[in-house]
Amino acid sequence: MVEKDLIYLDNAATSHPKPQEVIQAMVRFLRDVGANPGRSGHRLSIESGRIILETREKVAELFGVKDSSRVIFGLNATEAINQGLQGLLNPGDHVITSSMEHNSVMRPLRALERKGVELTLILCSPAGFLDPSDVGQAIRKNTKMVILNHGSNVTGTLQPLEEVGDICRNNNLLYLVDAAQTAGAIPIDVGLQKIDLLAFTGHKALFGPQGTGGLIIGERVDEKKIVPLKRGGTGSRSESEEHPDFLPDLGESGTLNGVGLAGLLAGLKFILETGVEKIRDHELRLTERLLRGLLKIPGVVVHGPQDAGKQCATVSFNIKGLVPSEISLRLDEEFGILCRVGLHCAPSAHKTIGTFPEGTVRFGLSYFNTEEEVDRALQAVGHLAGEEA
Ligand code: ALA
Repeated sequence: MVEKDLIYLDNAATSHPKPQEVIQAMVRFLRDVGANPGRSGHRLSIESGRIILETREKVAELFGVKDSSRVIFGLNATEAINQGLQGLLNPGDHVITSSMEHNSVMRPLRALERKGVELTLILCSPAGFLDPSDVGQAIRKNTKMVILNHGSNVTGTLQPLEEVGDICRNNNLLYLVDAAQTAGAIPIDVGLQKIDLLAFTGHKALFGPQGTGGLIIGERVDEKKIVPLKRGGTGSRSESEEHPDFLPDLGESGTLNGVGLAGLLAGLKFILETGVEKIRDHELRLTERLLRGLLKIPGVVVHGPQDAGKQCATVSFNIKGLVPSEISLRLDEEFGILCRVGLHCAPSAHKTIGTFPEGTVRFGLSYFNTEEEVDRALQAVGHLAGEEA
């Protein structure tokens, strides 16, 4: 439970609370299982490995992946994005991305640029939308990949995933989608949306704990061409000092986060049992209510699409006359409302929407927020904006 009377609206940073089942599964893992998966032959190691296999299979089920061995687990979406970019791009390759990406995409790309990878950054609209035709126009002879976030962590803007997927398929480009903000909250099917690489985090809308995430590697990606981010023990081919070149082992060295993945498994089961559509419906209603309310408050400027159907449950705004950090402090101290302000590790996105360098106030909603909480948040924002009027 969130501490009584606190309203947690920082779900775009990490979801809280988690379903009770997640906590129970993690306690059960630590208390009753605990062993290292895939290393030893005893019953507890087998059970630990079984939990991880089941987690892999549930990820595959949720995102429409046929072969669960093409799901590799890691620490978070950032690690998955780094694996996708550093593992597949070489000097001389060209990569296309959008101006709405956060630093987990921009920083690895800037580092690759220094090593000779060419980069095209497509400027999105002030509401954060990418125009798919700009992707078509940016393609060069040496273009290898397009990387795009599904939902912006700043404005919630949902990108035209399928249209860009079609362009990638028609031009034989790899398509890496960063689903950090949407996996678990918005339906995603890697086949339908023609996604070759899907980076996800476990600790946001999938309701797992921090320190979980992964990369789905589609069948168009030749695993023999992936350079692993890390090399080490995998529990397989122990006779060899060469790192395995097969999935999932090539992407998972060292002991996995067993307790974390046990929690993620419970989060995935919760989502599959509840239904992503039901989760989306609830978040859509709350987002609509929040947007409608904010747009009515004099002195409040809402950024992004201002249309719940075109964004995930994340809303950015400012109050004229107040700096975002002061708003967040007062929301926390005076109203018990917890949110994130500033640049959200996404300077390029803030430049695109015109809020750099001061940033915005961001409310990130989740399935566990209520209409009453949204109304209380609106009252608090109204109070602060009223003082400035
Ligand atoms: N990327 C996370 C956020 O937007 C941490 O807050």
